[in-house]
Amino acid sequence: MSPIHDSENELFPDLARVLYTSADISSRVNELGRQITSDYRGRSLVMISILKGGIIFLGDLMRAVAIPHAFDLIGASSYKGGTSTSGKVIITKDVTLDLRGKDILVVEDILDTGHTLNVVIELLKIQEPASIEVCCLLNKNRPRAHEIPLRYTGFDIPDEFVVGYGLDYRELYRNLKCIAVLKPEVYSA
Ligand code: XMP
Ligand code: MG
Repeated sequence: MSPIHDSENELFPDLARVLYTSADISSRVNELGRQITSDYRGRSLVMISILKGGIIFLGDLMRAVAIPHAFDLIGASSYKGGTSTSGKVIITKDVTLDLRGKDILVVEDILDTGHTLNVVIELLKIQEPASIEVCCLLNKNRPRAHEIPLRYTGFDIPDEFVVGYGLDYRELYRNLKCIAVLKPEVYSA
């Protein structure tokens, strides 16, 4: 059976423009995986993703990394279902692993203002890990409210609201394999 293509997805007509296809994403994730594999060889890597948007990226990135590593999940929310950041970040779930002395790589879907990652990093630092670095699939080209230790970037994108590959608008579109911009009428509906 052939895999479901995005064009068969009932949400596909809502998309104005595809920025990255599933093939583009997969090839970039493999490159990131190779870099992380060589940079973290011999270290005690723990990848930590941020719910919910980061988990699709984490799932693919983990399988592109060829060294032993653990993963954990942290819950953070700042968006409240809209398309602009509120600046107020709520931690909805803490990690469960003991992170003392570990080399943490925070795996995030998108870096926008930096509010979310800033709060997450401050929380993780309390456990005194050996290091904390960040891997973002998408890096929005815009002024940042906080300095973020961004070590790996998938793609630099313009300051537009995007969906797909884990990213949502009102909890939908996460299951698209591509990353895309929605038609303006979707927001006004
Ligand atoms: P900040 O501003 O805290 O934003 O760096 C990061 C979080 O906001 C969400 N975000 C988006 N979600 N499309 C989305 O679906 C976007 O274009 C977008 N920009 C930011 C995302 O959850 C991220 O963790
Ligand atoms: Mg969201």
